[in-house]
Amino acid sequence: MKAAVCQRYGPPEVVQIRDVPKPVPADDEVLVQAFATTVNSGDARVRALRVPLGLKLAMRLKLGIAKPRLPILGLDVAGRVEAVGRAVTNFQPGDRVIGSRDFAFGCHAEYVAIREQGAIATIPDGVSYQDAVALCFGGTTALAFFGAGKVSPGEAVLINGASGAVGTMAVQLAKHIGAEVTAVCSGVHAALVADLGADYVVDYAAEDFTRNGQRYDVIMDAHGNAPYARVKGSLRPGGRFLMVIGSLPQIIAASWHKASISNGEGDPLKTPDSFQTLMTLLDQGALKPVIDSVLPFREVVAAHRLVDGGHKVGSVVLAFE
Ligand SMILES: NC(=O)c1ccc[n+]([C@@H]2O[C@H](COP(=O)([O-])OP(=O)(O)OC[C@H]3O[C@@H](n4cnc5c(N)ncnc54)[C@H](OP(=O)(O)O)[C@@H]3O)[C@@H](O)[C@H]2O)c1
Repeated sequence: MKAAVCQRYGPPEVVQIRDVPKPVPADDEVLVQAFATTVNSGDARVRALRVPLGLKLAMRLKLGIAKPRLPILGLDVAGRVEAVGRAVTNFQPGDRVIGSRDFAFGCHAEYVAIREQGAIATIPDGVSYQDAVALCFGGTTALAFFGAGKVSPGEAVLINGASGAVGTMAVQLAKHIGAEVTAVCSGVHAALVADLGADYVVDYAAEDFTRNGQRYDVIMDAHGNAPYARVKGSLRPGGRFLMVIGSLPQIIAASWHKASISNGEGDPLKTPDSFQTLMTLLDQGALKPVIDSVLPFREVVAAHRLVDGGHKVGSVVLAFE
């Protein structure tokens, strides 16, 4: 089968499509033929070993010292079950599914083996593979952080980095919970986030949300330039700070505030429940997929370049021919 293989850390061009052995599902695994996947900020960070200050050594230990230990990137896949292991009971060949191997990656490939008890869920009839996969990276992240931060109806929630993959899902999920949402992004994306349900939009080039006198119950930083030290004056008493991305010094500084939730903390992001929740909300029309572009799988390098730009809207989807 074909897979996008990342043999070393570096620019988008280090990713090459190669022939690799097709996975054979273990007894407890489901083999999925991929129809759509995404290249997201997590894939691009691993490829480039572009990690926040103070975390490089930890990331090399986790991902591979000199090159990625798991050279096929890709966190999420949507496709059709081709085969199942002997012990699998919940899925059968032909099922349409969304799935992830989480930090085992491997979804930038024509076939992906996923544990039945891992993160895998059925795609509702009528929902396309591309729409389903587009929700997953940002949606699972926003669900996990909102759960840990106990985001509640009626609360004032600010999302910094609101037009990206995490931000567009966070805006919609916060609205679905019943929060009042302020979205921070560039002016060109203001109409998009308003359409997703944001009550207020702050153009970061025109206004500093930390200096306009407004206070919030929850502030989520999904860009990395709003650490606790910068936003603490904008939190109401009892307010929570959700640090989706931050450097080691910023994580340590935020940990002094008991209501901070840092990246990497808590339960796994991708669970059958989180995928099921996203698929149900998508099916009900409560969540809209936000897709920057759909590229054929062979253009995986161009997809990495788009993600590296830092201004994509929602997700960059790869479609398998
Ligand atoms: N902790 C975790 O487990 C976890 C999980 C997922 C993602 N992440 C991290 O979360 C971050 C966001 O991921 P993503 O996939 O959503 O990235 P993305 O799609 O590239 O989105 C980046 C967002 O940042 C915004 N932005 C750019 N400059 C900004 C500024 N000066 N102020 C405020 N916003 C600005 C962009 O808005 P405009 O285009 O409108 O400028 C865009 O909305 C990444 O760093 C990723 O690595 C962490």
